[in-house]
Amino acid sequence: KSSSLQAEILLYLSTNNELNTWSYAKERGLDHQLVVGTIRSIESLGDVIKSEQHTSRSIGLTDEAKGLLRDGSYEYNIFQAIPADKGIEQPQLMKLPNANIGFAKAMSKGWLQVDKSSKPPMVKRKVDTVQDEVQHLLQRIHSLELTDSSAEEVVELKKRKLVEDVTINYFTVTKSAGFSTNISKPEADLTSEMLQSGSWKTVNFKPKNFHAKGLLPSYGCLHPLLKVRTEYRQIFLEMGFTEMPTNNFVENSFWNFDALFTPQKHPARDVQDTFFLSDPAVTTKFPEEYLQKVKEVHATGAFGSIGYQYDWQLDETQKNVLRTHTTAVSTRMLYQLAQEKTFRPAKYFSIDKVFRNENLDSTHLAEFNQIEGLIADYNLTLGDLIGVLYQFFRKLGMTKLRFKPAYNPYTEPSMEIFSYHEGLQRWIEVGNSGMFRPEMLLPMGFSEDVSVIAWGLSLERPTMILYGINNIRDLVGPEVDLKMCRRNPICRVIPAKSEE
Ligand code: PHE
Repeated sequence: KSSSLQAEILLYLSTNNELNTWSYAKERGLDHQLVVGTIRSIESLGDVIKSEQHTSRSIGLTDEAKGLLRDGSYEYNIFQAIPADKGIEQPQLMKLPNANIGFAKAMSKGWLQVDKSSKPPMVKRKVDTVQDEVQHLLQRIHSLELTDSSAEEVVELKKRKLVEDVTINYFTVTKSAGFSTNISKPEADLTSEMLQSGSWKTVNFKPKNFHAKGLLPSYGCLHPLLKVRTEYRQIFLEMGFTEMPTNNFVENSFWNFDALFTPQKHPARDVQDTFFLSDPAVTTKFPEEYLQKVKEVHATGAFGSIGYQYDWQLDETQKNVLRTHTTAVSTRMLYQLAQEKTFRPAKYFSIDKVFRNENLDSTHLAEFNQIEGLIADYNLTLGDLIGVLYQFFRKLGMTKLRFKPAYNPYTEPSMEIFSYHEGLQRWIEVGNSGMFRPEMLLPMGFSEDVSVIAWGLSLERPTMILYGINNIRDLVGPEVDLKMCRRNPICRVIPAKSEE
């Protein structure tokens, strides 16, 4: 339907200089908005027509008047309700809708007479026939025959609130440079066929829309874990820490457990908690002297410790595993540090993957990332550890910390770290920490006045809190929505205000 109206409008313009949307709509009995909409759609096809907007004042029917236009005026209906010869009892007549106005108007027009001698009074016709002039006027206004708001009869209708002034927005439309009565949908693209056939010279192209949004270029984006990792890295670097090499996911039990004074019967070394490798299943090369000292400290005790007093097995220490914590990396670094001629204080950190044979749920996966920091220096105390932890977590926006005694085979004392989460309104565990045991440090070759403080936390947990992710499977694994990575903002861990 709208395309046939398009054709009609174009045909009209081919023989007329100008089209006025208001009068065109009225002449054809069309809705004005439909005509304006059609003009708009022709304009969108290219440089076919030009339009100019105008406003003008006119008169229109009120809602009440539309009822009168349809059903007749009140006075006319009153007259019609009176039987021609005998008349009607007045109370009966006044029951009609809008009888009061109708009766008053009909009386003043001299259409009726009232016989007050009978009880109740009788109303009778005074003339034989009447014309419904009001309805007729409304018709003329409706069909735009009558538009002058100052005409006497119009003023009268305005007083009766049947007619009101209205503003009309209409358009005058003229032909433009690309005018044609035969418009086809313009081409949006230049094709190789058009070039070959030469039709590009004559086809109608859609004008360029410089306001259109372009196609989004595809781009790579960083996973939230990588963004948060970068932030943590920055914090360590600011604090003067050096990153440790963490490129070996495969570790052997010696560096992952034994060197950390973790007994060979410890539950963490069970297949239920640790992934063991089948190929290659074992490592056979170790620093021999160091291995002997580690064996001794476990089996018989040494360096002032009575050890665990059990039958330490070489084949158990040889077993290859996927490292269960990055403390294995720290251990290798500390051993190297201990081999240097003179001791040099050091601050190291790492952020990388570890693997555990966990039951998977919304907060646990078989692989996750650990963040770990350590400081080796002369005579460090638990007070130093607590001080460094406050400094570190303050940079993450956490100022309220609590420490709870804990147990790790390789640290004494050990502390779980809790931070008060303002959003969750409760204390949440944010990490684990401690001072490495002499049973771990002395076999490496450190002197007794060297102590090492260390702490570790997961990368996933703060990432989930920062990005509002409740299920770890929405962060890592095959069910991750890649759009989540695109939409997520850059990461800024806001440091707590410094108190200095
Ligand atoms: N390795 C510990 C863990 O996996 C974390 C830790 C690191 C604890 C350093 C103490 C010292 O939870």
